[in-house]
Amino acid sequence: MTVVLSATDLHKTYGRGVGIFEALKGVNLEIAAGESVAIVGKSGSGKSTLMHLLALMDEPTRGTIRLEGADSRTLRGRARNRARNKTFGFVFQQFFLTANQTVLENVMLPLKIAGVGRKDRRRRATAALAQLGMVDKARNKAVNLSGGQKQRAVIARALVNDPRVIFADEPTGNLDSATGAAVEDILFGLNRDHGITLVIVTHDPDLAARCDRRIYVRDGLVHDEEAAA
Ligand SMILES: Nc1ncnc2c1ncn2[C@@H]1O[C@H](COP(=O)(O)OP(=O)(O)O)[C@@H](O)[C@H]1O
Ligand SMILES: [Mg+2]
Repeated sequence: MTVVLSATDLHKTYGRGVGIFEALKGVNLEIAAGESVAIVGKSGSGKSTLMHLLALMDEPTRGTIRLEGADSRTLRGRARNRARNKTFGFVFQQFFLTANQTVLENVMLPLKIAGVGRKDRRRRATAALAQLGMVDKARNKAVNLSGGQKQRAVIARALVNDPRVIFADEPTGNLDSATGAAVEDILFGLNRDHGITLVIVTHDPDLAARCDRRIYVRDGLVHDEEAAA
C-alpha cells in the first residue's frame, strides 16, 4: 500500500484567550493511494478543519502531515501552492465558481495558476468538460447553470490538472437527491477508472457507505474507523 497522505497527532486551535477553540485534538490517520475514504461526523465535529489541513489549505497548530512521505512543513510558499494545485482537486458544497466567468474560464483556472499556456489550457479544459458531458455549456456563464451542472463544472475543474487526490466537502449537500446521486457516480467512477483517491467529507450515511473506508470524527478526534467488509 502506498500512503498518499498521513496525519500524526494533528491539532488545530482557532482563536485565542477566552475565545480559544480546539477544533482538532490529536488526529492520526493514513490515506492510501487509490482508496475512497469518507470523513464522517456531526456538524461542528471538525471534518472540514481536518480536510483543510490534509489539503494543505491551512496549517496545523501542532502535529505532522505527510504528502507522499514528505513533511508538509518542508512545503512553503510557492512550492506549497504548486504541490496543492498539482496533486489535489477540490469539490465543495458551495461550488466556488466565479459567477460571471464562463464555465470554460472557470475550468481553465487551475491550469492558469499552474502556468499552462493558453492553447493547452483551452484544449485540456474542453477535454475535462467533455468527460462530464458539459462541452455544450462551456460558453455559458457559471451563474446561469443549474446546481447539478455547477457541480459538474466544479468536477471538471477538479480534474483538469490530473490530480491524484480529490477532496470533496459535502459534494451533494446543495443538490436534490437524483442530481446528488449522479454527482456521486461521477466521483466514484473517477476513483474506479482513474485510480484517483477520494477523500469525501460528509454527514450523509449513504454516501459514506459507498466509500472503501469511513473515518468517524467526534469532538475533534477520530473515534472509529471502519473498512468495507
Ligand atoms: N475559522 C474558525 N474560527 C473559529 N472557529 C472555527 C473556525 N472554523 C471552524 N471553527 C469551529 O471549529 C469546529 C469545527 O468546525 P468544522 O471543521 O467546520 O466542522 P464540520 O466540518 O465537522 O462541521 C466548529 O465548532 C467550528 O465552529
Ligand atoms: Mg464542514
